[in-house]
Amino acid sequence: MKALGNIFLVGPMGAGKSTIGRLLAAELRLEFKDTDKEIEDRSGVDIPWIFDMEGEEGFRLRESAMLDELSQQDKILLATGGGIVIKPENRKLLASRGQVVYLKTSIDEQVKRTSRDTKRPLLQADNPRAVLTALMAERHPLYEEIADYIIDTDGRSPRSVAIEISRSI
Ligand code: S3P
Repeated sequence: MKALGNIFLVGPMGAGKSTIGRLLAAELRLEFKDTDKEIEDRSGVDIPWIFDMEGEEGFRLRESAMLDELSQQDKILLATGGGIVIKPENRKLLASRGQVVYLKTSIDEQVKRTSRDTKRPLLQADNPRAVLTALMAERHPLYEEIADYIIDTDGRSPRSVAIEISRSI
């Protein structure tokens, strides 16, 4: 078992990072944080507003700054946005400042879990499945590159995934 410090949950939209993160943080007595929620709470506007006004690039700048700040803390469990791995500097921070858990989730499961979503700008498209498939093709190798643990979430409850993670680390 590695020494516990920070734990970072990465993975695609619909992987369950926030729900599993809350459960796991309580189990491991870590402080739970969520990059998206932190960005929204501090700016007073929501993610769709930021995408509308600043574009995806504006959101990515805020996301990287938030990751840099939060990952400097100790003993936090951080649920990250699905696109956090796009930037090499973010991957470097994640890999060096804690243990990275990749919540691996099939496209079918991602589609199922995000089907009623209105808060994820990238999925407000004619064909969200095609979007999720393209994002996964690009990002799966990046999640894998920095993962200390890869945990399958398909067909499983958040609680059972959280228990598996707490036993693995
Ligand atoms: C995004 C994922 C979202 C959020 C934003 C962009 C992405 O977070 O950061 O809408 O690029 O995959 P979740 O993965 O928590 O849904």
